Amino acid sequence: MIKSIINLMRKSPDIQGESDEEILRKRLDPARIPRHVAIIMDGNGRWASSRGMPRAYGHRAGVESLRDIVQISSDIGVDVLTVYAFSTENWKRPREEIDVLMDLLVEYLNKEIDELKEKNVKVKAIGKIDELPEKTRNAVAVAHKKTQNCNGLKLNIALNYGGRAEIVDAVREIAIKVEKKLIIPQNIDQELIARHLYTSGQPDPDLLIRPSGDYRISNFLLWQLAYTEFWHTDVMWPDFRKTHFLEAMLDFQNRKRRFGGLSK
Ligand code: FPP
Repeated sequence: MIKSIINLMRKSPDIQGESDEEILRKRLDPARIPRHVAIIMDGNGRWASSRGMPRAYGHRAGVESLRDIVQISSDIGVDVLTVYAFSTENWKRPREEIDVLMDLLVEYLNKEIDELKEKNVKVKAIGKIDELPEKTRNAVAVAHKKTQNCNGLKLNIALNYGGRAEIVDAVREIAIKVEKKLIIPQNIDQELIARHLYTSGQPDPDLLIRPSGDYRISNFLLWQLAYTEFWHTDVMWPDFRKTHFLEAMLDFQNRKRRFGGLSK
């Protein structure tokens, strides 16, 4: 589908020698860029296995995709990008794979942070950060501090993240405030709950992207995804590049969102 759009556009005389990415970017409506895009970066393991390589090879390749997607998100003016890097359920994986993922995170943050800062990207980790290994917590703290004054793309890295755990944390915090009489139960509403989530102050995702063929939410942003549009592809995350992201953007821009109401 996207290839046929690109080929059609290539027939136009004013599109000569342009890359697929440039062609797709020209079709984007700058007024309708999603404010918040969430991504479940899935398929690293299968991608590696299909090449006869260990799963770690897939995770490392997945970092390259992340780099590309942060870049394009920032370039087209996405406000918030939330990526699922490690779930509360991922602790069930073999110790060796967990160590690889934690090391990759530290490596990514240490290597990229200056460039992220230069690109005005504000990095935040969301999840049960206190339970992460010390080296990961330190890398996250440094990234957070270094980019705290950036006001471009907000990059949320979901780490030791679970949607249910996030809601439990919010409920607990609210209950403590009720106990201290800082909140009265009658004032608990959706806005108040949203303000106690890790994404407090950020808009809910407009678009959720899940590569690699599965149709699951996997305990990701359960509260925030209530009215999010879903975009799905069979492409594995390590193969997911800027053109796939732009394809998702174009598809999103063609949708009519009703938020439970009727089309205008
Ligand atoms: C899911 O693929 C992916 C993960 C559990 C980790 C995602 C991590 C990265 C993309 C790299 C590290 C991240 C950062 C922020 C540096 P899977 O392993 O479940 O793949 P499978 O479904 O094919 O087994």
